[in-house]
Amino acid sequence: MSLNIIFREKDIPNIREFDVYSKNGGYEALKKALSQTRKQVIDEVKASNLRGRGGAGFPTGVKWSFIPQDNPINYVVVNADESETGTFKDRQIMENNPHQMIEGALICAYAIKAAAVYIYLRGEFWDVAHALDAEIARARKAGLFGPNGKLKDADGNPFKVDIFTHLGAGAYICGEETALLNSIEGKLGQPRVRPPFPANKGGGLYNEPTVVNNVETLANVPWIINNGAEEYKKIGVGSSSGTKIFCLSGHVKNPGNYELPFGVTFRQLLYDYGGGPLNGGEFKAILPSGGSGPILRVTDEVLDTPLTYDDLRKFNSILGSASVIVMDDTVDIVWVASKVTKFFKHESCGKCTPCREGTYWLDKVLDRILAGGGKESDVDLIMSVAKNMQPTTLCAFGEFAANPTIWTINVFPEEFKAWVDGSKKPAEEKAVARPARERVAAAAAPAGD
Ligand SMILES: Cc1cc2nc3c(=O)[nH]c(=O)nc-3n(C[C@H](O)[C@H](O)[C@H](O)COP(=O)(O)O)c2cc1C
Ligand code: SF4
Repeated sequence: MSLNIIFREKDIPNIREFDVYSKNGGYEALKKALSQTRKQVIDEVKASNLRGRGGAGFPTGVKWSFIPQDNPINYVVVNADESETGTFKDRQIMENNPHQMIEGALICAYAIKAAAVYIYLRGEFWDVAHALDAEIARARKAGLFGPNGKLKDADGNPFKVDIFTHLGAGAYICGEETALLNSIEGKLGQPRVRPPFPANKGGGLYNEPTVVNNVETLANVPWIINNGAEEYKKIGVGSSSGTKIFCLSGHVKNPGNYELPFGVTFRQLLYDYGGGPLNGGEFKAILPSGGSGPILRVTDEVLDTPLTYDDLRKFNSILGSASVIVMDDTVDIVWVASKVTKFFKHESCGKCTPCREGTYWLDKVLDRILAGGGKESDVDLIMSVAKNMQPTTLCAFGEFAANPTIWTINVFPEEFKAWVDGSKKPAEEKAVARPARERVAAAAAPAGD
């Protein structure tokens, strides 16, 4: 079932190298795109139903069509921040098949008449950025783009777009597109008020219209240009066309990245690819889009659900960037809510009060419950704080940060009840959580301790 549109390294060893990529059809899609009009390229991407793989699933061709072609300077920004909990696919693409993402970004640059491409990587990806720089230099030297670019577009104009990498400092919020743009500009990595949106004059990089696309999104583009939108739509289901890289982690035997057509079910992903529950336990819960999306209770109905942008809606959940975190029956769900909330409290940029204060209070009340001092009214208090955060924050982070509490309470109310009515006590929580913590501490301890 697996089909390697993106993970071509599985079929072609060393495709990360410019020479190998070129010998295997690399940059042919760019040449083909340059022989077409900009509108033709955008229409092809639109017709393919390619949707953004960074989380929101916005139609890529539609986003490109928002850019005003008569503006003298536009930009493409590749979102390689990869900060969502449980997401680790963009790194694999950049390490193993970087030219396909670069080629996709260049095709986008042509289509939207961009002056330059910036690849924004989280700070921890410095090694990935250095390797990318080397591969970009090889492709530039070969005359594919940059000041000495030899290619010409359909009107005979030389294609001189250049590409630069930019490292952030490792903040989750800098994956949000407007915080990311601020970060590239050397400003504090905090989201901007919208409108204007990045595609509008005044809203993008250096105030110029800008397309921000995820690494995986752009890596799909060369295949679409080479093979056509109709072929692409034959993969996947409905409005979820193509393949998706599912980042599978947690209590499965075989965690990892799996590139599969949209429409594969949770059961197939967790059992056929993931190998079933680790240590023979039972699957209990799934976070299908990392910590930021609503949690699911594992039932037969959930296991048989096709993984698409639309199908998860019936459980009030989302596919997001498809960072599927699986938990077995040893996991305490209130502990999960607390753990994920601590992440969001730490990563809140602090610009708006409901998010800054809300994450603080959610964390504090959850700590109280897990310390054995919780009351029934604490669950209502958590719900009230979280629900007040969601419609009042400046960016979607506020909604993400409230989801772990709202949805663990909605989906697993009995777990909260057990903590606040005293039938569950801190010692029991430690019995579950401690072995993992002790293993980590033991691994980190200096030899001989
Ligand atoms: C708090 C927050 C964090 C985000 N982190 C990422 C990220 O790490 N990588 C990413 O591609 N998109 C991330 N996004 C989504 C981006 O804002 C944006 O929608 C995306 O880069 C657009 O690209 P796409 O259309 O190709 O998905 C994040 C959004 C929010 C609200
Ligand atoms: S919602 Fe949170 S992360 Fe987003 S701008 Fe407000 S404080 Fe910052």
